[in-house]
Formats: sequence, C-alpha cells, structure tokens
Amino acid sequence: MTQRKILVTGGAGFIGSNFVHTLLENKSDISITVVDKLTYAGNFRNLERWKDDSRFLFIKSDIADKEDLFSKLEGHNFQEIAHFAAESHVDRSILGPEEFVKTNVLGTFYMLELARELHSAGKLKVFLHVSTDEVFGSLGEDGAFTESTSYAPNSPYSASKAGSDHLVRSYFHTYGMPVITTNCSNNYGPYHFPEKLIPLMILNCLQGKPLPVYGKGENIRDWLFVKDHCLAIDMAIQKGKYGETYNIGTRNEKNNLEIVELICSLMDKRHPEGAPHNRLITFVKDRPGHDFRYAIDPSKIEKELGWTPKYSFEKAMEETVDWYINNQDWWKEILSGSYESYYEQQYKGR
Ligand code: NAD
Ligand code: DAU
Repeated sequence: MTQRKILVTGGAGFIGSNFVHTLLENKSDISITVVDKLTYAGNFRNLERWKDDSRFLFIKSDIADKEDLFSKLEGHNFQEIAHFAAESHVDRSILGPEEFVKTNVLGTFYMLELARELHSAGKLKVFLHVSTDEVFGSLGEDGAFTESTSYAPNSPYSASKAGSDHLVRSYFHTYGMPVITTNCSNNYGPYHFPEKLIPLMILNCLQGKPLPVYGKGENIRDWLFVKDHCLAIDMAIQKGKYGETYNIGTRNEKNNLEIVELICSLMDKRHPEGAPHNRLITFVKDRPGHDFRYAIDPSKIEKELGWTPKYSFEKAMEETVDWYINNQDWWKEILSGSYESYYEQQYKGR
C-alpha cells in the first residue's frame, strides 16, 4: 500500500490535533508532519502521545514567516496538505485584527506558494483548506448556507478567512492546483481552547465562576462534533473534487442559552457539589456585530462524497464534558499560562 505523506498546519490546535489523532489512531500507512507556531492556542501537549511514533514529526514554524517556513519544510515531499493553522477566535479579532490578517491571509498565501512548488515538481495530490461558515455572514430565522451562498463576512476573523478562501480558489483557476475548501460550522469536543463558548462554560461550572452569556443568549450556532468534522475532512481529501468547496455540518442548531443550560444539567449530575449550575448564568454585554444565526446545509458532501456523521449530539456533549472533567491537568496548565514552555523543555535545540 502506498504511504500517505501529509503536512498538517495548525496541528497543535483544537481541530488540527483531533485530525492528527483520527489519522494516527486509524491508519498505519501514513506519515504526518505538523507545522505549528505554538501560539497561545497551540499546545504541544495535544500531540504529546505521538512524539516517539515514527509516523509523526513536529516542526515549529510560523506560516506567515516565509523564510523560516520554506527553510524548515525544504526537501519534504508532501502529497497532501491539510491547512488548519489560523487565528480562530472572533472576540480576539475584534480586539486585535492584525494577527488575523497576517496568519490567515498572508500565512495561507505562503502555504499556497509552498504547495505550488510541490505541484510544479509533480508531488502534490491535494491542498485541503479548512474554512468556516462565518464567511457567509449571518442568517435570519430561516434558510441555511449552501456552497453557492454569497460571501458576506462580518468580523475581522471571518473577513480574513474569506480572503484566504479566495486565494485558495484563485490557485485552482490560475495554476490548476489540486485545491479543495471545506466550510464548517461550530465545532466542539476534546482539546477545545477554553476561550470558546462550550469549554469556557464547562470550566467555569467546575470552578464555580459566572457563565457569561452574550446578549440574551438567543444567537444560534450549528454544532458539529470535532471527530465527525475530522472524518469529513479526511473524506474530502481522499474523494473531493479539485476546485470544489464542501460545507460540513450536522443540522444541529441550538441557541447559546440552550447550550449553556445543557452543560449546566450535565454538570449537575457529574459535579453535584456545584448544583444547580444554572445559577451561575450571567447575561453580559453583547459581542459587537454579533452574527445572529449560522446553519449549514451539508447535502453536497452527503450526496457527492457519501459523508454522514457518526456521533449523536447528546452522546458527544457527554463525552466532551467528561473529557474536561478527566483532563484537569490539561486545562489547569493552560489557565496557569505555563504550557507554552513545555515544547521548549522537551525539544530544546532540536
Ligand atoms: P485553534 O485556535 O484551536 O488552533 C489554531 C492552531 O494554529 C494553533 O495550534 C496555533 O498555534 C496555530 N497557528 C496560529 N497561527 C499560526 C501561524 N502563524 N503559523 C503556524 N501555526 C499557527 O483553531 P481551531 O479551532 O482548531 O481551528 C482550526 C481551523 O478550523 C481554523 O482555520 C479555523 O478558522 C477553522 N474553523 C474552526 C471552527 C471551530 O469551531 N473551531 C469552525 C470552522 C472553521
Ligand atoms: O462558525 C464557525 C466558527 O465558530 C469558527 O470559524 C470560529 O473559529 C469559532 O471560534 C466559532 O466562532 P463563534 O464566534 O461562533 O464561537 P464562540 O465559541 O466564540 O461563540 C459561540 C457563541 O457563543 C457566539 O454566539 C458567541 C457566544 N458566546 C461566546 C463566548 C466565548 C457567549 O455567549 N459567551 C461567551 O463567553
């Protein structure tokens, strides 16, 4: 069997690390190189279990630093690139958009240039760009995003992702490159950085802290379990059509208050000393330009690639809450701010 040689950017983050686990747990004929800058959101501990596995290599680099990136990746003949690396948090993009433009736009441009070299050398089979449903803007009460929905990004984060999507598209039309873009809805699951709604609420419940709900908690997101997302991405890499985009979601819309109430009830059973956790719900000032509703129509990936989700929302939410309860070292290290030095300790001088 021929070996798949994959480069995963942003593999130390939430979805990227789940993607690495999904592949290494299930495939022996594979070699994965992760390139990651290890920003505040990147955590080498997420990948620690693979550090002595011959199928795995980690390279620390910034995709927005062309010289460093190209020199560190020179001579590696990747056939597949799964591009996850990005600044990903909307609230941070409102406070400081510059890093978003650098990493998401310039960084994606350099990744495409690197891929173009591999393509010219006849090595590259596919460049899979991981994007978001936020590029389509906000929905009203009805309807769902399809692959032909017009772009209308509203935050600096989504605008930078939209810019990267357009660059990816242009490399197909201009250079004939084997690119595919996926646009997914909100993920949840293990290794989710605790600034995002679901992990933040779980950890605040465990610590007896207020649960800050923006506005009235009526905004709607379409929740996708990260393990289902990773399987969909791998399917798009292997079966997707070059130049196409695929929306990924599981028709699972909930408003934010429903999500927070669900977490509270799951915590009441698992952490009875804090019950009732919904007493901690605190309505706070709304996010500026807060998109009201996202919803994905996944018909295309279902029909054309045969993808269907494997996990139920109820079970996957239980698994997620349990993961945070059982991995307190992981999040306590993050909250104490000391995790970044862990990689340096392990790999000094390498
Ligand atoms: P994350 O913030 O958890 O992880 C991002 C990773 O990228 C981190 O490991 C970080 O260190 C790395 N990174 C950031 N800047 C970098 C740079 N300049 N060079 C190299 N590495 C860098 O993000 P995530 O939630 O895992 O998201 C992964 C991708 O999926 C992103 O492209 C995001 O836009 C997209 N996405 C996420 C969601 C979601 O719900 N989390 C939904 C839709 C799309
Ligand atoms: O839709 C896909 C996007 O989902 C991804 O592209 C982004 O990378 C990802 O971060 C996510 O963006 P959101 O802004 O939807 O996710 P977040 O977890 O930040 O917020 C989810 C909802 O919860 C949103 O309506 C804002 C609200 N919220 C969030 C936080 C952090 C709160 O009410 N309170 C909070 O403290």
